[in-house]
Amino acid sequence: MSKTLIAPSMLAADFGNLQRDVEMVNNSEADWFHIDVMDGHFVPNISYGMPVIQAIKKHATKPLDVHLMIEKPERYIEEFAKVGADIITVHHESTVHLHRTLRQIKDAGCKAGIVLNLTTPISVLEDILPECYMVLLMSINPGFGGQKFEEMTYNRVKKLRKMANDQGLDTRIEIDGGVTDKNAKALVDAGADVLVAGSYIFKSDNQTETIKHLKAVANN
Ligand code: DX5
Ligand code: ZN
Repeated sequence: MSKTLIAPSMLAADFGNLQRDVEMVNNSEADWFHIDVMDGHFVPNISYGMPVIQAIKKHATKPLDVHLMIEKPERYIEEFAKVGADIITVHHESTVHLHRTLRQIKDAGCKAGIVLNLTTPISVLEDILPECYMVLLMSINPGFGGQKFEEMTYNRVKKLRKMANDQGLDTRIEIDGGVTDKNAKALVDAGADVLVAGSYIFKSDNQTETIKHLKAVANN
């Protein structure tokens, strides 16, 4: 298994000091920027869109992992690629033509992934898994940072890792929501290899140290 990656969620950053927070991530042991796009339809919250992603990209020295929580994401894939997305993940629940949307993401030059909400069965991935660079499993109901991690996630990660192994794939499994140093190791043991963390990192006193600590716990 490759090293566990840490992806700080910029939803929890201080937007008034965005460049400072981007540079903090650049200079930390974090691996990716996790960028949450919300449209007020697919999830009950609105976050930010292309101009903010472009602003982050201008200063970021690490890949942008763009998590689209929007209805019919196929309408905007090329635009997200253009403003600097490196990885684009779309919700299984948000598009009818998932296979076509993944192809569209790859054609736009990005790595493609699928996100599953908490109760969407892992089995829906069976046929599409070979097309996925990554699968993101939500460990909360999407829409807001700062929520409590749902314990059901461990079993879901195990099921997905088994499915990938059975198919001979080394699909990345990313976990998003309520990740802290308390659940990181158990998630990695279950088969996860990318951990998103928003409030745990940005609400801490020493963000750089918190990232370092989380990464050490996850890779221990
Ligand atoms: C929620 C987002 C998450 C969120 C995680 O819908 O997808 O990325 O920022 O925040 P925390 O780590 O605070 O749960
Ligand atoms: Zn997210």
